[in-house]
Amino acid sequence: MISRPPFLARLERFAVVDSTQRVVRDWLGAGVPEVAVAVAGEQTAGRGRLGRSWQAPAGRALLLSVGFRPVGLAAGHAWRLGAIVAQAMLDAAEEVAGLRERSLWLKWPNDLVAVDPEGQLRKVAGVLGETALDDDGRVATAAVGIGVDGDWAAADFPAELAPTMTSLRELAGGRPIDHEALLDAFLDRLEPRYEGLLTGRFDVGGWSVRQICTGREVEVAVGGEVLEGRAVGMAPESGSLRLETADGIGREVDAGEVIRCRVV
Ligand code: BTN
Repeated sequence: MISRPPFLARLERFAVVDSTQRVVRDWLGAGVPEVAVAVAGEQTAGRGRLGRSWQAPAGRALLLSVGFRPVGLAAGHAWRLGAIVAQAMLDAAEEVAGLRERSLWLKWPNDLVAVDPEGQLRKVAGVLGETALDDDGRVATAAVGIGVDGDWAAADFPAELAPTMTSLRELAGGRPIDHEALLDAFLDRLEPRYEGLLTGRFDVGGWSVRQICTGREVEVAVGGEVLEGRAVGMAPESGSLRLETADGIGREVDAGEVIRCRVV
């Protein structure tokens, strides 16, 4: 029998912390081995993508960061760490919330969304990836955080986010969501995906097919600019969004986010 190190080297729960990203980055800096997971009931300085803050009331979201030391992972494939975290959570969330398959989707780069009856996308979770490279241009360490709107009733959604967000609890018809069960289901699904990545495998097909915006008209924020066009697919090597603009020109957008994508 081949013996291998356990998938999880460390899993620590915090009632309140500033940010699980900060915790995991500190661990990685201090030499803590992979895979190291910090989970919080509440964050006082939660961080989102593009310098935004990330807020959720105590106990209403599953807030966690995963620390990786992905030996041999090329810098150009660092985005795949965020993608496997999003894929693992997509499957875990559908199962734990008792949702039909394909109730949840990915919106580039790594948001988890649901489609409401009016065809508007509602954000359920967001992913933040931060990597450090070694001298050979490979990923030395990565902290990938995800915040999932889990056991959060719509009556408690902040007014400014209510039109664009939802939660697993709402999608489950108001049934409570067990964040511990969601964490377990997520880690079970993350392990094979991460082991695959370390041996050069990535589920490009599964990742592409769950992209809700493919084939639809979108607006994409890129730096200070907003690009309009049709999302025509994903680039499997770079993780870029392939966009066809109105003048028929094809572009690959490697950084930014889809800010509009109407489904019906
Ligand atoms: C986004 O902007 O959509 C990404 C949000 C990521 C939030 C999570 S919550 C757990 C982890 N700790 C943080 O400070 N941020 C991430």
